[in-house]
Amino acid sequence: MSLNAPVDSKLNRRRSSSVAAVSIGRNNTMKPKRLAPRQCNLIIKSWGRTNKAKVGKDIFEAIFNEAEELKAAFGLSLSMRGKRLRSDSTFIAHTDLFIDTFDFVIRHLDDLPLVIENAEQLGRRHATLNIEDFRPEYWGIFRECIIENVSNEEDRETQIAWRQLILMLIFHM
Ligand code: HEM
Repeated sequence: MSLNAPVDSKLNRRRSSSVAAVSIGRNNTMKPKRLAPRQCNLIIKSWGRTNKAKVGKDIFEAIFNEAEELKAAFGLSLSMRGKRLRSDSTFIAHTDLFIDTFDFVIRHLDDLPLVIENAEQLGRRHATLNIEDFRPEYWGIFRECIIENVSNEEDRETQIAWRQLILMLIFHM
């Protein structure tokens, strides 16, 4: 994904009908390869052994370490970090919701059109958020923080499968 998109690039920019849009999604990601059945199984097994509540918090703690200013968009005060952040009810409500999204996706990996429709819907909901000073590199920050935390204890093949899944979701958002 290009992190050099123009500053005016907004979360709510729709996919254009230009030639480039055939392979580049709204979030500037290249269209990822389709997940193979073996990759889906690796993800399902990996997700089964994941401490989901912990990973949700780890992901958002990592995101806020990269972009502290985003805390405001999630109704959190900038000074909140560490244990205080991780035990805050607003923080937990969001990390739980976030994990529910992944739970849904992973339960429906055998129905890719449904997963894609869900990602598109999520993208549309984000488009209405009107996050102040939205920076295009937020997509890259989310992408890497999710991949890192969801797959860091996995073998290489599972890590690649996770990366492909996250790229696919973001591509369709
Ligand atoms: C893989 C990428 C992402 C996923 C899976 C995701 C998931 C979600 C989910 C499930 C919600 C709950 C709200 C709803 O029901 O629509 C949400 C809300 C939100 N997301 Fe995302 N998101 C992603 C990327 C981003 C990015 C890049 C930003 C940029 C700042 C962002 C900012 C927000 C904000 C501000 C909210 C509202 C929080 C609130 O209401 O307190 N998200 N997201």
